[in-house]
Amino acid sequence: MSTQGEQATRQWQDRQFAEGWVASDRFEDLLSLPRRMAAALIAQERPETSVVLDVASGPGAFLAALLDELPAARGIWSDASQAMADEARSRLARFGDRVEFREVDMTALGAAGVPAGLDAIVTSRAAHHLDRSELGRFYSQCAELLAPGGWLVNLDHIGPSEVWDRRLRALRPRFVPAGGEGPKHHHNYPLTSVADHLEAYAEAGVDDVEVVWRGFYSCLFMGRKAG
Ligand SMILES: C[S@@+](CC[C@H](N)C(=O)[O-])C[C@H]1O[C@@H](n2cnc3c(N)ncnc32)[C@H](O)[C@@H]1O
Repeated sequence: MSTQGEQATRQWQDRQFAEGWVASDRFEDLLSLPRRMAAALIAQERPETSVVLDVASGPGAFLAALLDELPAARGIWSDASQAMADEARSRLARFGDRVEFREVDMTALGAAGVPAGLDAIVTSRAAHHLDRSELGRFYSQCAELLAPGGWLVNLDHIGPSEVWDRRLRALRPRFVPAGGEGPKHHHNYPLTSVADHLEAYAEAGVDDVEVVWRGFYSCLFMGRKAG
């Protein structure tokens, strides 16, 4: 596991921390719209989708949105935390054997034994643990696992410029529940920007990319691999 992978994952190994985070995550409702939008767009553009991978899936909400929208698809849940695996097993139980569980370090995705030819890889609120160069490596490893025409989707927190940070920070309490995402965990500051993400997608060979949704510091990036 890389140094950034280790920093990112350390707190999530602590069952009490992971369960506390899940119980107090106040962003769940806010993020259900972009998750459903991503699932609907994949279903519209790639109706033949048969396998999707959720990286650093945690309790599995993104994977659930995809499996609801794509009833013929199977999903691979992946994360580095056993506590999150236990949480996800109960939340995703209704999908039965449509879900496979794998312990995967997102910073070594290429070595995780995940089968290539995936229709979509999604991830949410995890890649902000990575700096710009590790983000580029992550997207490149994802792109290699995708089938031609497959989708690379990241719903993640970004770092705006100083002036926009000030504006958004002042405004946010009026719209976002106090306490935000729950217990503080490791972030890689300064967070990568929208421009960093778009560049990293392009470096990974995915240049058909758009910011499909944005709410304050969280963006839904969707890119389609050529094919
Ligand atoms: C903020 S939670 C987000 C969970 C979920 N994707 C969501 O949006 O609800 C971050 C997740 O990243 C996972 N994680 C942290 N470091 C990781 C790593 N190196 N490899 C894979 N997963 C990791 C944690 O275990 C945790 O489930």
